[in-house]
Amino acid sequence: MTQDELKQAVARAAVDYIQPKLVDGAIIGVGTGSTANCFIDELAKYKDLFAGAIASSEATAKRLSDHGIKVFDLNDIDSMAVYVDGADEADANLCLIKGGGAALTREKIVAACAQEFVCIADGSKWVDVLGAFPLPVEVIPMARAYVIRELTKLGGQPKYREGIVTDNGNDIIDVHGLSITNPIELEVAINAIVGVVTNGLFATRGANVLLLGKESGVEKFVG
Ligand code: 5RP
Repeated sequence: MTQDELKQAVARAAVDYIQPKLVDGAIIGVGTGSTANCFIDELAKYKDLFAGAIASSEATAKRLSDHGIKVFDLNDIDSMAVYVDGADEADANLCLIKGGGAALTREKIVAACAQEFVCIADGSKWVDVLGAFPLPVEVIPMARAYVIRELTKLGGQPKYREGIVTDNGNDIIDVHGLSITNPIELEVAINAIVGVVTNGLFATRGANVLLLGKESGVEKFVG
């Protein structure tokens, strides 16, 4: 199976998994990226069963709208049963690195609001130790050089992702060369640097369920 086929398989598995929650009035949180796009395309087949979605990026909002799925403002809803999103890396504790698509802050906000976070990923995203994928950090532009200096003190090699502006108007720094043995501690430490909006470690609130696409089928991990 190709990587795209594995992404489609986990997207279908995610729709099967959340089907009991696709009920009248329900609002589904939707992530960003190529795997989340597969999920949106599958979810659209059931669009008459639920009220609409919360999007974690402008790109996701557009894809949802193009399918005729109503996109709600997060400030206008009281509860969200489930959030479904991809990841750049996932470990056995269902801690994640996200933000390869620069949508980490909105993704983290939507995940925080959801009762359940279902992560969907092809098998290449599974790691023993997080950090081979450069850790994205969203920063207020005027703080970029300062944050790079502070990140250097924490280890790893921070690199400005040139030419990318987030949906929130901010910059992204990718921290290379990390081996993250305590993801919660590092997530909290990076978020404490003045000028950081948030970082792509989803460890204090990791996934509740991981659907991992492999040649042998979709494997389900519960956190
Ligand atoms: C975007 C993300 C994505 O979930 C992550 O980059 C995975 O993307 P893809 O499904 O395209 O591999 O965090 O900010």
